[in-house]
Amino acid sequence: MLRTRFTEEFGVRHPLVQGGMQWVGRAELVSAVANAGALGMLTALTQPTPEALVKEIARCREMTDRPFGVNLTILPTITPPPYAEYRQAIVESGVPIVETAGSNPAEHLAAFGPAGIKVLHKCTSVRHALKAQELGVDAVSIDGFECAGHPGEDDVPGLVLIPRAADELRIPVIASGGFADARGLVAALALGADGVNMGTRFLCTEEAPVHRSVKERIVAAGERDTELIFRPLRNTARVASNEVSRAVVARLDAGGTFDDVRDLVAGARGRKVYELGDTEAGVWSVGMVQGLVHDIPTVAELVDRIVTEAARLIGARLAGVVTTS
Ligand SMILES: Cc1cc2nc3c(=O)[nH]c(=O)nc-3n(C[C@H](O)[C@H](O)[C@H](O)COP(=O)(O)O)c2cc1C
Repeated sequence: MLRTRFTEEFGVRHPLVQGGMQWVGRAELVSAVANAGALGMLTALTQPTPEALVKEIARCREMTDRPFGVNLTILPTITPPPYAEYRQAIVESGVPIVETAGSNPAEHLAAFGPAGIKVLHKCTSVRHALKAQELGVDAVSIDGFECAGHPGEDDVPGLVLIPRAADELRIPVIASGGFADARGLVAALALGADGVNMGTRFLCTEEAPVHRSVKERIVAAGERDTELIFRPLRNTARVASNEVSRAVVARLDAGGTFDDVRDLVAGARGRKVYELGDTEAGVWSVGMVQGLVHDIPTVAELVDRIVTEAARLIGARLAGVVTTS
């Protein structure tokens, strides 16, 4: 067993988090993560309405009696979803933990705090983490440049970002981006983090509710097989390298605007990837860490493997490196 400030304060057995994942963070995966003793997050905006989110939370509760959280991703969009209603659905459902991400969570904290909900805010820079701490979040997840999804625009990899965050913050820090195994967890703890957050690794498990071809593609892919789309728009996202993502990069690099790629990045295309297993159909998030993913275990096998090997690594391999002479 590994005990950290995070496991103590958030009431989870293992210092492992499954961060929000659009289209993927559903009850099947989240309940499996909870049952394995880690912290899973349902993804609020994967549900078409706040009412559907309430039902998904109830469905997840039927599949586990362990705590789980909900991710609320706040991204700038032309037609924003009804965030206040999703927030209300979370509060009324009695979920104990929320992962906020995407932008400043201030507006939402006013509702979560009084409801006794712990907030884990995910961000990509030390300055944003400090701001979140000042606003009163309970912990931060800090996403290095390696991560799937939105790595921000600073391009600071975890090896620098995590210790920088640990040095500056009082609250627990969860290291995110590029973690898939016990070595990563032990390294994150050594860098000053209180646990790790994983997206890509949990996406490639039996219970992740996506087509098996996506998982097989992750196993086959290497660490170089991602693209950074939307760089010129300063809204960078790391996604799988395929014909569509390469076309997006090419069009924007040639001076194109969002309108020139709108059809390529449509959410409906991304859903096709997960539902039909056509990994060339659209853009889909995946991290560089896919180079370290070689199998499709159950969530329980994965969590057990990571924590067991981590304890062995610390107690045997690392301890064995220390000499007195
Ligand atoms: C398929 C997929 C979808 C994601 N969607 C979201 C999302 O909707 N909101 C969010 O905050 N993060 C999202 N992420 C990011 C993850 O929560 C996590 O921060 C990231 O995957 C960590 O990097 P890793 O993949 O190297 O573990 C997504 C990641 C993946 C792989």
